[in-house]
Amino acid sequence: MKNIVLTGFMGTGKTAVGRELSYILGRKLVDVDSEIEKSRGIKIDEIFRDLGEEHFRNIETEMITKIAREKHLVISTGGGAVLREENMRALRENGIIFCLSAGPLTVLKRTVRNSDRPLLRGDDPMKKIIELMDYRKPFYEKAGIMIDTENKNPLQVAEEIAEIYNAEVKS
Ligand code: S3P
Repeated sequence: MKNIVLTGFMGTGKTAVGRELSYILGRKLVDVDSEIEKSRGIKIDEIFRDLGEEHFRNIETEMITKIAREKHLVISTGGGAVLREENMRALRENGIIFCLSAGPLTVLKRTVRNSDRPLLRGDDPMKKIIELMDYRKPFYEKAGIMIDTENKNPLQVAEEIAEIYNAEVKS
C-alpha cells in the first residue's frame, strides 16, 4: 500500500495529524526530522547552528530518499522538504502526498510555545513566517493534495486525509 506523506509549512500540524492517521489506519508513523535526530544523535536545531541550512538540507534529502523506499507508512516531513524536487519525486514514487496549510496567525500560535524551529527564531517571528510562506507558496501548491487545517483538530484533518487516500487508492 502506498505511503501517506504529510508535508506543509511549520505549524500546520504534520506531526499531530500523522499520529492520528497512524492510529486510525494502524500504520507506522515515520517523522523525517526525528529520524535525522536519531540517526545523527544531534538535534535539528544544532545541525542548523553548527553546520548550516544547506548541510541540513543534504541530510534531509538523504533521509527522505531512504524512508521513501519503504511502503505502508505514514511519513511526516519537515516543512522545507518541498524545496527540493528530488525529495518530492522520491516521496511520490511510493506515496500520495498531502500538503497541510494554515494561515500565518495560526502558524504563529501553534509554534510560539516551542523554540525548536531555527528558521522562526528572532525578534519578529510573524515577519519570518509571512516571508517564508510567500517564498514557499509555489512549492507547497505543487507538492500534493492541499488540506486546509484552519479551525480543525488533528483528528478531523486525519479523517479527511484517510477518506481521500482510500478513494485514491481504490481508483
Ligand atoms: C523546517 C521545518 C522543520 C525542520 C527544520 C526546517 C523548514 O520541521 O525540518 O527546522 O524549513 O520549514 P517542521 O515543519 O516539522 O517544524
